[in-house]
Amino acid sequence: MSTQSSQWNNNTAFLLAATGSAVGLGNIWGFPYKAAENGGGLFVLLYIFFVITLGFPVFMAEVFIGKKGKSNPVSSVESLAIKSNSSKSWGIVGYAGILASLIIAGYYAVIAGFVIDYGFISAQGVTEGTAKDIWVTQQSTFWDMTFWTLLFIFGSCYVVANGIDAGIDKAMRFLLPMLFVLVISMVGYGAYQGDFNAGLDYLFSAKTDKFNSPGEVAAIVQAAIGQAFFSLSIGMGTLMAFGSYMPSSQKVSKASSVVVTADTGVALLAGLAIFPLAFGLGFNPEENAFGGSALVFETMPEAFAKLGVLGQIVGPLFFFLLAVAAFSSMISILEPSVAFLTQKFSMTRLKATGIILLVCISLSLVSIAGHNVWKDVSLGALDNPFEFMKYFADDFLLLLVGTGMSVFVGWRLQSVVDKQTMGITSTAFMSLWIFILKWISPVFLMTIWVLGNAQVLFDQDLIAQVISLF
Ligand code: PHE
Repeated sequence: MSTQSSQWNNNTAFLLAATGSAVGLGNIWGFPYKAAENGGGLFVLLYIFFVITLGFPVFMAEVFIGKKGKSNPVSSVESLAIKSNSSKSWGIVGYAGILASLIIAGYYAVIAGFVIDYGFISAQGVTEGTAKDIWVTQQSTFWDMTFWTLLFIFGSCYVVANGIDAGIDKAMRFLLPMLFVLVISMVGYGAYQGDFNAGLDYLFSAKTDKFNSPGEVAAIVQAAIGQAFFSLSIGMGTLMAFGSYMPSSQKVSKASSVVVTADTGVALLAGLAIFPLAFGLGFNPEENAFGGSALVFETMPEAFAKLGVLGQIVGPLFFFLLAVAAFSSMISILEPSVAFLTQKFSMTRLKATGIILLVCISLSLVSIAGHNVWKDVSLGALDNPFEFMKYFADDFLLLLVGTGMSVFVGWRLQSVVDKQTMGITSTAFMSLWIFILKWISPVFLMTIWVLGNAQVLFDQDLIAQVISLF
């Protein structure tokens, strides 16, 4: 059994693959609607703050584990645990990451399916005033949704089955430049046709009237941290897997900073592609659906409808951008589990991808059903299985794995961490990084995890309860 990963055959592959992974539906579908749900400016500022203070350090920790462990997420963690005289059970961090990645794959593909579907719908043209009904109909048709979702899953599995160079690297080289051109064109169009200043103001000025209680502020902090981690692809083994293919000359800190900057940049650009256009065409968060999937699948199609024939070009371009972003991320979501199966069970890549394909299809069917046949099957504050999968992976597992990696690198790998691999020459920076991993991020992430789960799963506002004690 060989658990050693192969290597990217060039120095830019990691940068492209990790950026392709990070920039996804999280940036273009998720970031704008979460900003809208959380009152705009303050959320965005908190988001940027947490990307820098928590996201970036934990991102580096995950890439480091992969690069140093040189294997799939589970074996990398296990071998580093042995190297540092720690228990092999740390491997559970890798398993949890893989579990999270599979669940994400199951719901991510469904949103991507909608995206492809909407590419065609918007190309045919949407009559003004009908976008809301179209969105309701699209969610109610189990078999149509299954068709688009499967198309997306098969496409991404095809790339992954072809291996890291001939599959992933080759695809990213083609997808990433396209993605940047598309997002910039959309921002340009939004600035030309829409109200750029209104969009800027909405995204960057912190309006505090949204926050009446500490509980609400805590909820926004949780949303900002969760979004930062998800958008950076932290906590699902992707960065460990991609890090394990890094050539030895590549430095973790430099490579990470490029990816983190690109990802944050595209999230902000996505906001600037959507809000100026929406505001300019007369939409606003008070009267129109700006929250959840409805922002992209209801309000945007309605906006394109207002543009008339032009909307039949701009609309499909917008959904094509989303599809490209989703596709490059989906590839990266599949990689940790495929790498795990190939290395741990000495399987061919084709067979491993085949197994993961079946797992993904099964999970995606559950998440599709969550939109229609099982729409009323709820759990706590989670309305249906789709919401449940999303919550369990993004908010429950992701923060746990993030904390696990932080603690593992900060507390257990002190003898293994080296300036050479990290590419950090300053001792002060190195100590700061370790300090954040040891204390700041675990304390922060766990506090948010407890508060968030108490609220969502048990309907308990712990902050309010503590305050009421005084
Ligand atoms: N970061 C991706 C996005 O923003 C999603 C993702 C999460 C990809 C985890 C890989 C791993 O859409």
